[in-house]
Amino acid sequence: MTVGSQGPLPVHEVFTPAAIESGGTLFLQNCAFCHGKDAGGGETGPDLTRSKLVRTDSKGELIGEVVKNGRLEKGMPRFNLPEGDVTSLVAFVHSQQDKALSQTGVRKGVDDSDLQTGDVNAGKAYFNGPGTCAKCHSATGDLAGVAARFQGLKLEEQMLYPRDAKSKVTVTTGDGKVLSGKLEYLDEFTVALVDADGIYHSWPVVQVRHKVDAPAKAHVELFDKYTDADIHNLMAYLQTLR
Ligand code: HEC
Ligand code: HEC
Repeated sequence: MTVGSQGPLPVHEVFTPAAIESGGTLFLQNCAFCHGKDAGGGETGPDLTRSKLVRTDSKGELIGEVVKNGRLEKGMPRFNLPEGDVTSLVAFVHSQQDKALSQTGVRKGVDDSDLQTGDVNAGKAYFNGPGTCAKCHSATGDLAGVAARFQGLKLEEQMLYPRDAKSKVTVTTGDGKVLSGKLEYLDEFTVALVDADGIYHSWPVVQVRHKVDAPAKAHVELFDKYTDADIHNLMAYLQTLR
């Protein structure tokens, strides 16, 4: 069944762009792994843009219920999120469905076979150029062998939203020295990093200033810029990094 083939759209409330945007970030963190980055379905979760439940939800009364209670026996976990976050997620899911419905027939998303359709050279050019990937990555450095570490959709997921990525932290010490590296440890008392030479440094939080930079954030921001073609080309290129 295709949803939305009849009847006026949307049937739901109007959501603010801010709610949709923050919902998108939350969706990436919590839901994209199963439902796909655009809610179009993933390895284990159904396509929410075609969901009848989403279609008939007005302002979260149905979606929110599923998110809060889960369907544990069917593989949908339960989320204990603040009410405001649930509202944002609802806004995002609706916006994705609207988008999908308004471009009927154009299905965003990837199948394993899609991963082979990109153009390696175009991917490389995007990586070094407009994608700005080369600002933080090197094909012969940190990303060397990435295609051996992750395959297929896992590689794509890792590219779109790196899991377990270490945050970066910059610490300014009392005497004005600035150090940065991978955040190793942070609680209310201690901040610790490992610098580019692999050396571990730690300080009492009260004695330094520190600024944490979550790497996934850069990826989330890039996310909106990729077209499907960019993703396919990047994937083709990354798959050459073995
Ligand atoms: C571990 C995988 C997983 C994660 C993470 C996950 N889901 Fe699900 N979700 C599922 C599965 C599987 C189903 C289908 C359950 C079923 O068959 O009834 C589902 C169903 C749903 C449904 C009902 C769709 C329908 O048509 O009945 C909604 C809405 C939903 N998920 C939203 C979310 C949201 C929002 C998040 C993030 C907060 C999320 N899911 C995270 C796996 C997941
Ligand atoms: C602002 C910096 C920044 C930009 C720009 C950036 N990334 Fe990342 N990326 C990171 C960080 C940091 C990680 C996490 C690395 C880690 O924890 O080892 C990461 C992780 C990854 C990973 C997973 C690597 C692994 O070994 O797990 C891939 C693949 C990746 N990025 C691809 C890309 C591509 C492709 C682009 C451009 C479209 C891009 N990144 C743009 C900072 C960036």
